[in-house]
Formats: sequence, C-alpha cells, structure tokens
Amino acid sequence: MALKIAPSLLTADFGRLREQIQAAEAAGADWIHLDVMDGHFVPNLTFGALVAAAARAATKLPLDAHLMVEAPDQYIRPFRDAGVDFISVHVEASPHLHRTVQAIRESGAAPGVALNPATPIEAIREILPELDLVVVRSVNPGFGGQRFIQRSLDKIRAVRAQLDREGRPGAELQVDGGVASDTIGEVTAAGATVVVAGSAVFNPKGSVEENLRRLREAAKARQ
Ligand code: DX5
Ligand code: ZN
Repeated sequence: MALKIAPSLLTADFGRLREQIQAAEAAGADWIHLDVMDGHFVPNLTFGALVAAAARAATKLPLDAHLMVEAPDQYIRPFRDAGVDFISVHVEASPHLHRTVQAIRESGAAPGVALNPATPIEAIREILPELDLVVVRSVNPGFGGQRFIQRSLDKIRAVRAQLDREGRPGAELQVDGGVASDTIGEVTAAGATVVVAGSAVFNPKGSVEENLRRLREAAKARQ
C-alpha cells in the first residue's frame, strides 16, 4: 500500500485556509487531517464542525477528523454532516468505545481509534477488528511542531503485527505527531500506511509544494 500523507491544518494559515488546503491537494496530499481539540481532553482549543464543512467545500480529498475531545460521541453526527470521511476518537476519552465505534460506522464515516504515547496497544485489542483506522500518537496531543517520541516505533510495529494477525491488511495505520523528513522513513518502515504532517507541511520555511515533495523523497529514500 503506497504511503499516504495527511497534512494537518493545525499549523496552516487560517486566514487563507481554502488556499492552503488547495495547495496541499495540488501538491499531492492524500488526505486532509483535522485536529479537533476542545481545551479539556487536551490543553489546546482549535475548531469544530464549521471548519470541517469549510474544508469539505475546499477539497475532494478524504477528510480525517481527529477528535481530541472529552465525550466524543456528541461530535460524531456534526462532523459527519460536515462531510468528514474518517472520525478518530481517543481510547482514553471513550469509556464505551465499542458503542462509539458502532455510532461512527452507523453515521457513514470510517471509525478510527487513537492511542496516546503512554497508552499500551492492549487498550484497543478488543476493538481492533472493528476499526478502519488506528492512530498511533507519536507526540503528546495538543500542539504541532513537537519532537517525535522515538519509542512510538515499537508501538507502530506492534499495531502492524496485530492488524496482520487480525487479518486486517486493509485497515489504515496512521502515525500522528512529529513526522518530518528525519522521521518519515523509519515510521513508514515500521508499518505506517498514513502519516499526519502538520508543521512539516505548513510552515514559513518552505512552500507547501516543496515541503510535501521533501517528505515524499525522504519516505522513498528509506524504502
Ligand atoms: C497534536 C496534533 C499534531 C498534528 C501534527 O496533538 O495532533 O500531532 O496532528 O503536528 P506536527 O506534524 O507538527 O507534529
Ligand atoms: Zn492529529
């Protein structure tokens, strides 16, 4: 499965969001990652379904809503109605995870579950067969531009192995946090099929096109 890159809007220029999204699409981005934060589950507050609807109007790419929120169930319908394709919730914020995953699938979106860096893969063993997406957080959630947590590589390999054991080769394994030219190769080699990249794509140092090209080259260099 060819590696997919999902730029995260977290570090995009929100004064020209449509332009930034379309630049990412034109430069070959595969998905657009929406980092939704409520200021409770994580210390940062970002945006709601309104911005997801704006992103929907700006691109045909799959939209991937990463809900870093407490009580995510209440956001499933609004984000699906806004047009997102994937909805990921945090296992740490979902006491009734099986029901939440069912509700996401019933909404028509593809369900994903995200694991914070200190959460062991055992936390999703029972729900894994129901998922279309597993998100390994390789930074502590809340902000872009953080350093990749090296230990995440073991967890990526463990999730890959578990997905293969469960006979889920089609399920996506997404790595989110600190993915840049210096880490994308080992993340891909460890089994990621999708990488989220925020500050590596949207930053003042280079254009979205240059940044995405550099990421792709770095990913290929490792293969
Ligand atoms: C923080 C966000 C970030 C974002 C990626 O919780 O989830 O991980 O997606 O940001 P970078 O790529 O800058 O780490
Ligand atoms: Zn994210």
